[in-house]
Amino acid sequence: MPVLRKPTLNWSDVTPKADFMNRRQLMMGAAALGAIASPVAAELETAAAAEGEGDPVTAELMPNTLEEITSYNNFYEFGTGKDDPSRYSAGLTTDPWAVQIDGLVDKPGSYDLADILGRVTLEERIYRFRCVEAWSMVVPWVGFELSCLLDIAGVQPGAKYVAFETLVRPEEMPGQRFRTLDWPYREGLRLDEAMHPLTIMATGIYDEPLPNQNGAPLRLVVPWKYGFKSIKSIVRMTLTEEEPPTTWNQINAREYGFYSNVNPEVSHPRWSQASERRIGGGLFARREPTLMYNGYGEEVASLYDGMDLAKFY
Ligand code: MTE
Repeated sequence: MPVLRKPTLNWSDVTPKADFMNRRQLMMGAAALGAIASPVAAELETAAAAEGEGDPVTAELMPNTLEEITSYNNFYEFGTGKDDPSRYSAGLTTDPWAVQIDGLVDKPGSYDLADILGRVTLEERIYRFRCVEAWSMVVPWVGFELSCLLDIAGVQPGAKYVAFETLVRPEEMPGQRFRTLDWPYREGLRLDEAMHPLTIMATGIYDEPLPNQNGAPLRLVVPWKYGFKSIKSIVRMTLTEEEPPTTWNQINAREYGFYSNVNPEVSHPRWSQASERRIGGGLFARREPTLMYNGYGEEVASLYDGMDLAKFY
């Protein structure tokens, strides 16, 4: 299924014609509201004009609905239930928003999100998303390459990793009133992973601003890694020489490695990672086989050349 490996899927790759005709109307409506300027509407015009029926293989890759993507979430700052984030995140203030960028950079400081957005190019990326809990979705993100932001800050030669932190604001994030996790939620990437063109900072879904439950206003998306690496509502990035501590790795290093690349051959100690349940597939849907690097191996496998993937999981 070569379509899975295309870094940027277009609507015509993932959606049978009848569906993207419907989506086209939906998306044109969203574009008319002026939510976020993006090339999506133009792309959909082209797709809608194209001839040919969708085939069953690509139909399986149809993006999940906005309803599915925004009602089944992991965001422990709002609670541990899958519907807690959608129920309890409405009160989160996401504007104004700033990201502190520090550590081994030429221009450390507080970067206003509005300024950042004036300096990067937003584009749509339709990515597969695989949670370590063995469920998956296909999400049409809007965002920009993380490398653009790192270039703005100026990464110094000694930097080898990027550490990320989520906002701490218990008044607006009710889950933070409990010690479920050691707040803030922390994540990290090796610098080459962070600079990879598939790695994006998402600011929207379906051409709309990112809903709070999905990590508004700015979250990481690393499509070849388990979902917990894709940290939400980011307020700080630190360039470091040493591998930074990360939330799930600190809780249980045996179960959650620093790398956490999607790998059907390395089981989680408590369950197999060989297959996944697609959200929205219905109760009796067949589980789908999980793909190495979540289907992005052609682009990213070389980052891990010579590494023992069972050891560095
Ligand atoms: N980021 C923060 N700050 N807090 C979280 O609890 N959960 C992670 C990740 N990022 C999480 C987070 C996990 S386990 C997953 S699977 C994804 O977010 C879920 O993203 P989604 O809700 O947009 O599907």
